[in-house]
Amino acid sequence: MTKTAQQTGQIEVLVTDPIADEGLKLLEKRPGFLVRRLMKPAPEALREALATASAWLVRSETKVTEDGLKLAPKLKLVGRAGVGVDNIDLEAASRRGVLVMNVPGGNTLAATEHAWAMLLALSRNVAQADAEMKAGKWERSRFIGSELAGKTLGVVGLGRIGREVARRAVAFGMQVLGFDPFLSQDQARALGVEPAEVDQLLRLADYITLHASLNDKTRHLIGREALSKMKPEARIINCARGELIDEAALLAALKEGRIRGAALDVFSKEPLPADSPLRKEPRLILTPHLGASTEEAQLKVSTELAENVAAYFEHGRLRNAVNLPGFETEILEQIGHELDLAEKLGRFCAQLLTGGIRAVRVHLSGEYLSSHRRPLAVAALKGILSAILDESGLTWVNAPIIASERGIRLLESSEETAAPGFDKMIAVEVVTESETQRAAGLVLPSGELRLVRFGNLTVDVVLSGKLLVLRNSDTPGTIGRVGTLLGDGRINIADMRVGRQSPHGDAAMVITVDDPVPQPVLDRLAELEGIQEVHYVEV
Ligand code: 3PG
Repeated sequence: MTKTAQQTGQIEVLVTDPIADEGLKLLEKRPGFLVRRLMKPAPEALREALATASAWLVRSETKVTEDGLKLAPKLKLVGRAGVGVDNIDLEAASRRGVLVMNVPGGNTLAATEHAWAMLLALSRNVAQADAEMKAGKWERSRFIGSELAGKTLGVVGLGRIGREVARRAVAFGMQVLGFDPFLSQDQARALGVEPAEVDQLLRLADYITLHASLNDKTRHLIGREALSKMKPEARIINCARGELIDEAALLAALKEGRIRGAALDVFSKEPLPADSPLRKEPRLILTPHLGASTEEAQLKVSTELAENVAAYFEHGRLRNAVNLPGFETEILEQIGHELDLAEKLGRFCAQLLTGGIRAVRVHLSGEYLSSHRRPLAVAALKGILSAILDESGLTWVNAPIIASERGIRLLESSEETAAPGFDKMIAVEVVTESETQRAAGLVLPSGELRLVRFGNLTVDVVLSGKLLVLRNSDTPGTIGRVGTLLGDGRINIADMRVGRQSPHGDAAMVITVDDPVPQPVLDRLAELEGIQEVHYVEV
């Protein structure tokens, strides 16, 4: 009998949208992966596939909802072979610790060229004339077009695609007005674009093309009011997201001849219902979300996604993680050991605490970049939470969400000046209602992780394995009594480090042991003369 992916320990990759085979085959060729293609699955088939899927790859047709995610207990990653993730419930995915990856650049040129195809088709009535020809007619006078040269193109949204669209306008001899809240005047001019506010662009442009992303500010950006500002000969193109346009208002404007034409590749509801009135409007050119549908773009997005999925499962590498910004592989590679250190410092501190955590402070000193702060802070937080929660569902993605749901504030800070005697140091401070635990560490050139500060005391301990952490007063005989008691309890000591503030003052012992220390031994240690606190910690 053939073994299932579960039995062989393979990574099941579920694909529910048409993603180019080139990418999927790259995954299939790898020993650890099993790819299941399930186009337009029936609910029962989807439920069954999600139950064992580790990755779920989609384009824009599959809706990745909270309910779907709940059916996928093993899911680690949702991969979008394309840019837009508005079909994916990002919040639900993040809460469940599921990474969402997209492929932002792969279909830029395809979308750009489709916008131009629409623009040219509109200016020369290509679609309408073609339909008449197919109906056996030959009507030249009904299809007088207008030239692009000398006209004004208004580009709303100058991200990757908007910029490429704008660049090509120069070749047609068009003037370009551009609106983008994130583009400086200088950047716009370097692209040959005259920066404009939306209102000005609506009033002046002969052609308007939308390349903005969909959010609460841009939803129905083109509605009744915006349409009323446009020239009667204006034409509008939408190859971005359907809801940027109020379709009912657009239809009314077209019917009443208030604008000349429109071309839509995207719709507020996809697939566009068969009885949609948009399908009947002669001044409207429609395509079924074809912006990214070129052989080249599909090859690019599928292979790039497959490589990124493999790199994630095989090496933990992150690329284009939409719900984990700042965790790009290049950054993580610079601080690989430090991420371990921060996580272990967090886990170390959390095991010394009782009571609800209020805040976590992560402070970097020395040669760290500002881009290192967030990943290291989240790593420390993950370490802390792993000591108090079931670790299995905890990831970098949901650690900050879980913390904030529990009222834990995460504070990050850094300074270029290193602590005296150290080139670089990571300090983690965990604050509860009644106490604060601090620990700081560093990475040796060999990659070894060291705990160098514990509270106010300087120590030097390999941060690994099973540790007994004691606070004591620095009095003669204490170390001996601790050693004897552990010996009596058959606990083997691998290493013992002591730190103190001043002779006969506060001191700490961190003892690396080979075996877990049972509670009765911990209790007897706590009763020893001079011992104030006893903790058994695993890092
Ligand atoms: C995108 O967001 O990448 C485009 O809208 C393409 O969507 P598609 O992959 O469903 O064609």
